[in-house]
Amino acid sequence: MDMKIRPRRLRYGETLRKMVRETRMDASSLIYPMFVREGNGIREEIPTMPGQYRYSIDTMEKKLEELLDAGVSSVMFFGIPGYKDEVGSGAYAADGIVQRAVARARREFPELYLITDVCMCEYTSHGHCGVLCGHDVDNDATLELLAKTALSHVQAGADMVAPSDMMDGRVAAIRTALDAAGHINTPIMSYAVKYASAFYGPFRDAAGSAPAFGDRRSYQMDYHNSREGIKEALLDVQEGADIIMVKPAMSYLDMVAKIKEAVHVPVASYSVSGEYAMIKAGAQLGYIDEEKIICETAAAAFRAGCDIYLTYYAPEIARFIAEGRIG
Ligand code: PBG
Repeated sequence: MDMKIRPRRLRYGETLRKMVRETRMDASSLIYPMFVREGNGIREEIPTMPGQYRYSIDTMEKKLEELLDAGVSSVMFFGIPGYKDEVGSGAYAADGIVQRAVARARREFPELYLITDVCMCEYTSHGHCGVLCGHDVDNDATLELLAKTALSHVQAGADMVAPSDMMDGRVAAIRTALDAAGHINTPIMSYAVKYASAFYGPFRDAAGSAPAFGDRRSYQMDYHNSREGIKEALLDVQEGADIIMVKPAMSYLDMVAKIKEAVHVPVASYSVSGEYAMIKAGAQLGYIDEEKIICETAAAAFRAGCDIYLTYYAPEIARFIAEGRIG
């Protein structure tokens, strides 16, 4: 057969396959999300996320050590407070759970990069991501509280803040508050392209943050939309976002590719709780090979164009990269 071009030629042998590989991964791109809660000596497994835990501040330290040993040097904290109220005051309390966790981590692990999720839903009695006016989330009244929350995290020692509430104008409000307090070099990673997704289900179990009534569709995006995501990303960049996140990951990689083209800041992709839960469940049933699926889904996110990957599998991925299995 006279065939000059044979794509298979470049697929023989691991050395050649690695030479021509298009997607390279590095553990420094990984962020591990973790849940911190009130109490002492607590490490409770999240039922819908086997292998993931809620840590009290003391047990968190051991986990942070393990992450560093595994080659993961960035974490994102979610707080589970001891009390909730209408206005989510635990979110911006100077001695709130995230503030204390960050302060401790800052002191004990200076080499760790500490990011905080900025949102109200874990702290409000109604579970919505802002303060209410009737049955609606009051956008503009929420901005001030988000800015206060972000500032309190930075004052406790956070290196970066990541607002996930999806209120309009929050990046500008947070930027203004941080700058006014002198934190001009603290970056904002905006959950700009965040869809109203059933993939957050296990997270809401973990954080006890499901809305008490209604849903989040008046602030998170409709998953039928693509151009709207670009609009959100462009707006947040204008408001001063340093990094744009797309969330969830697996079913939204088209958006990662589009956002990568549309903006000139780093793009992050968040493989959320439901993605983790599906892989775990499939693996526990013996239907899929967990390690291979972890490698493939991580490579797919980077292939789509993300620069940063948030995942509950961060330590495993770091190990697979170190072992040369991927990347
Ligand atoms: C807070 C927040 C959520 C997630 C990250 N930040 C939940 C939600 O929006 O309901 C989801 C993360 C995950 O599912 O892993 N608003």
